[in-house]
Formats: sequence, C-alpha cells, structure tokens
Amino acid sequence: MSAQSVLAAHAEAVPLAWRVGAVSVPLASAVGVLGYPGFDPALEALSEALARGRLAPPEAPFVDATGGPGAVLAYARVRGGPSGCLLTSSAAARRVALALGVATDEVRAGFAWDLAVGSIAEAWWRAPLDRGWSRALAELDGWARALTPSGRLVAVWHKDEGGKRAERAASQRFAHVEVVNRSGGWRVVTLRGPLAEVPAPDVWRDWQGPDGPMRTMVGTFAGERLDAGTRALLQALGADGAAAFEGARVLDLGCGSGVLSLRALRLGAREVVALDDDLAAVRSSEAVLAGEAAGGAAGGAARVAWSDLTLDATDVAGMDVVLMNPPFHVGRRVVGALSEAFVAAAEATLRPDGRVWLVANAALPFERLLSSWRGPSDVTPAGVRSYRVYAAARP
Ligand SMILES: C[S@@+](CC[C@H](N)C(=O)[O-])C[C@H]1O[C@@H](n2cnc3c(N)ncnc32)[C@H](O)[C@@H]1O
Repeated sequence: MSAQSVLAAHAEAVPLAWRVGAVSVPLASAVGVLGYPGFDPALEALSEALARGRLAPPEAPFVDATGGPGAVLAYARVRGGPSGCLLTSSAAARRVALALGVATDEVRAGFAWDLAVGSIAEAWWRAPLDRGWSRALAELDGWARALTPSGRLVAVWHKDEGGKRAERAASQRFAHVEVVNRSGGWRVVTLRGPLAEVPAPDVWRDWQGPDGPMRTMVGTFAGERLDAGTRALLQALGADGAAAFEGARVLDLGCGSGVLSLRALRLGAREVVALDDDLAAVRSSEAVLAGEAAGGAAGGAARVAWSDLTLDATDVAGMDVVLMNPPFHVGRRVVGALSEAFVAAAEATLRPDGRVWLVANAALPFERLLSSWRGPSDVTPAGVRSYRVYAAARP
C-alpha cells in the first residue's frame, strides 16, 4: 500500500452505532480515537447505566468529556436535547466529531481546568487514569471548580486503574458521591455539590531534560522523565546523525514533551515542526520550544501543531529529517495501524533522500515497515536491549 493510501485509511472516520437500550446512536471512530476499532469500554459502562435506568440522561446544557468524538452529545441529539459541547484534548477525536456534523463552535479544545469557575451545569467525564494520576486528579479539581453549586458530574472509571483512589479524591471535592452502576470493573459515579475551596490545579511539571529545562503538562507522555527509548534515540543521533541537522527542516512526529525537537534545534536545525495528537503534548512542546523559536540558543524556528497525522493542516512538505518515537497504544489498547501510519507520514513528508530516525520497542515490526527504505540501518547504541533505533532514507 502506498504511503498516501495508508494515511487515507488512518484518517478515515469509520461509522459505528452506539446502543443505549433500544436507542441507536450514530457515532464514528478512527485509528487514533480511544477504543478504535470499537468503542471505549467506558462507553459501554455508561450505556448500561443509562439503559438500566440507573443514570438520568443529560438534563442540562452539558460538556461531553468522555474522551472520544462525543458519544453523549450524539445521544442527547437523538433524544432531542439538551444542548452540549465536546471538550477534548485529542486531535483525532476532534476531527471525527467534526466529520459527524458537530459544529466547530460546539467543540472546545482543552481540559476541565481551562473552564471558568462555576460555569458548567453538567459534565460527562471519562477519567483519564491511563494518563497517570496527576492528570486525572487535575481534571477532577478542574470539574470541582467549573461546576455550578447545583451541577452534576457523571464520571466513569475502572476500579483497577485507580478507581478507588478516584472515589476517595471525589469525596474530598464533592458533598455527594454515588456509584450508580458497576459492570466488569467499570464504575459510573455521579458527583454533586462541589466544595468551594478546591484550589486551581498545578498542571505543569518542571524538570531537567538532557538539553536544558523542560516544562511538561500533566498526562504528557513520559511525564517528568526521559523515556528510555527516547534516550536511546538521542544517543544514536549524537553518534551518527548530528551532521544531518545543520540547516535542516525537521519534523518531530508525536512530539510529546518536545524533547526531540529541542535536540534538533540544538543540533542546528533551521526549522522544526513538532506535531502531536495530544493537546497536553502540544502545550508542553510550545512551552519548551517558545524560547528557542524566539532566537534562543540555536536560532532555528519552531512550530507546534495539534494534529493526528492529518498533515495537510501544517506545511510539512519536503522535510529533510523526520524524528519519532512512535506510539503503539491508544489508551491501554495496542493499535498496530499506528506504526504503519507513522512510517507512511514520514514517507509522505520527507524530501527525496530525506532521512528518518526512529526508536521503537524491539518487538514492533519497524524492520519490516522500513524494508523498502534505503538503509535501513540499525543504529541502536551498544548496551540498549529493549529498543531498536533505525536510520533510513526515503524510498
Ligand atoms: C511514545 S510517545 C513519544 C513522545 C516524544 N517524542 C518522546 O520521545 O518523548 C508518542 C507520542 O505520539 C503521540 N501520538 C499518538 N497518536 C498520535 C497520532 N495519531 N498522531 C500524532 N501523534 C500521536 C502521543 O500523544 C505521544 O505524545
């Protein structure tokens, strides 16, 4: 399959019907959306609670923060109201929501902590415990602050992902916490009566990266540390690749904290584009690269894009170098199509002879995916066992 057709398949919004009792709710998914190729199991827990009558449907203008493209929004639409908006940090979810016909002004990019204090009558929230406790707790604090005194938060979480801890934290922030449905480890919980004194969460973590100070938003990949795979890639660049960056245009696919982009700038890149599906990663990379782009140490220009590999949104043609530590999970689910899409995106954006440097878990099929590339050479630093670093030139 050509790179363009792999990317087209990656971008496709696949129709799905979400069943809530007798009601069929038209939805869709795509490779980067939580639960793909089916539904996030948290949604099944919500539909069960609704169908059993244990949970009242949306009652007031509400925020859908269930992680996908707006299942509760679509459900409310089928029922004839109330109105709602989608709050999302996933570019893929946003894109699929728009493809489903949700209006641009009904989609808000952001997090619960961005919402004005006391401004929200109702919210439906899938706790992002797969992104770490700090992120989940910061969002819970955000909801406790954003909800009106008579508001309702419908939360869903899994008992084995830290659900008990979430329930305890909820009780410290809301006067009334009720588990309304239990199924297969999932808990649907209603939270009412937000306590007045919940402080604004501190969502930034400052840490020392390999090329200087880092500022990372909670829930961003690897948090306040350097991932071991990323470390191996940086090591390999030092040994084999540094010359390729002088004056180069570099694309950092799945930029996370921005640590690879920062290295590219330090190695003399003329322009760096850092791209990620996750808005927390985008904000982190913006924070880290802002000083550099303003003529910092190396003087190269940096741009950060919120995108799930739908590259037309950003001017990324004819790049000299692509860097990546590609993902293979969405939430907790392994999604093989992501690896293929990342390699296709590199191929689609590199100039002829342009080079990719990538690091991946040794068990992943990158040797096969790069088999038509020139090279590919395995440049894994000595002593690294669980990862492979490849450098290859565009086919
Ligand atoms: C393994 S992390 C690497 C992050 C960073 N480059 C590093 O090395 O620390 C992969 C990144 O890809 C992002 N990602 C996942 N799916 C994506 C998609 N479809 N499009 C763009 N980025 C995606 C994730 O949000 C995550 O930040």
